[in-house]
Amino acid sequence: MASDDGVDRGSAVAEALEGLAREALAIGRAAAPSGRVATYIPELGHADADAVALAIHTVDGEAAAVGDVSECFTLQSVSKVFALAALLRGGGDDLWDCVRQEPSGDAFHSIVRLEEEGGRPRNPFINAGAIVVSGRLPGTDPAARAGAVRAFLQQATASGEDAFAMDEAVYRSECRTGHRNRALAHFMCHHGVLTDPDGAADGYFRQCALTADVDALARAGLFLAGGGLDPHTGTRMLDADANRTVVALMTTCGLYDEVGSFAVRVGIPGKSGVSGAILAVVPGRMSIACFGPALGARGNSVAGLAMLEFLAREGALSIFASGSPP
Ligand code: DON
Repeated sequence: MASDDGVDRGSAVAEALEGLAREALAIGRAAAPSGRVATYIPELGHADADAVALAIHTVDGEAAAVGDVSECFTLQSVSKVFALAALLRGGGDDLWDCVRQEPSGDAFHSIVRLEEEGGRPRNPFINAGAIVVSGRLPGTDPAARAGAVRAFLQQATASGEDAFAMDEAVYRSECRTGHRNRALAHFMCHHGVLTDPDGAADGYFRQCALTADVDALARAGLFLAGGGLDPHTGTRMLDADANRTVVALMTTCGLYDEVGSFAVRVGIPGKSGVSGAILAVVPGRMSIACFGPALGARGNSVAGLAMLEFLAREGALSIFASGSPP
């Protein structure tokens, strides 16, 4: 809209956002060659290691998407955010009787602490905790429980029933190779934390194989920046308390054993996945989705981390920086 001085403030903001996103993209592309695509789920190994994309949606309605924006990827561990949100929305607070809210300091698939701590996962974002969340979602079978995550994503983006489809090949690939996750599930079953370990693991594999592009993912995460309310549709996706819980756990547990340096480098609540996706939310301001399948040593996208570090610095986005503009 043009103001009194004839300047179109809306398009000036949009241009500035797009310009910032393009600068971040160049930094992401430069970082990508230092990472490696995950292959422990063999189907993920087919990803284009050089692909990089970035999308930003602000609570004020601005949006930018740059880079390889047509790349469709599986959400992998980023799905854990939406699974937790879907569970808490259904009143699943008794989750906290068997899943803690503490960072683990361990790799995402680690089993060691589970043995030390009586089968009770440290948090809902490590694989063990996420398998418990999946098993508790509404639905009589694994497909229905993953369907609850997909339905939540569709509602969050006000999109149609084709959105966030499951990638069958990636799902089957993880079914064939996911022995460690099944071991986690059976170990927790031994401790009475789960009753149907194979069903919980299967639902978890299915939710991890849900697909998105960066624009859809950033849009899906916008309610998290809006205190649980989708700022564009006015739909309450999550009550304010549950939203605060999800965002707080992203801050403390979202990048596993890289969460501390991510807090220092970037300072934005985030959640990563081994497909190379990262969702980051700046409370009250924006949602950012990154994609770059080349991963660093801790299983997080090197391009995604580099782009978020740049955006956080240039945009003064760190939630830990005193004196940040509102
Ligand atoms: O369970 C797994 O190993 C994968 N389906 C998801 C792991 C993941 O994305 C970890 N994130 N960086």
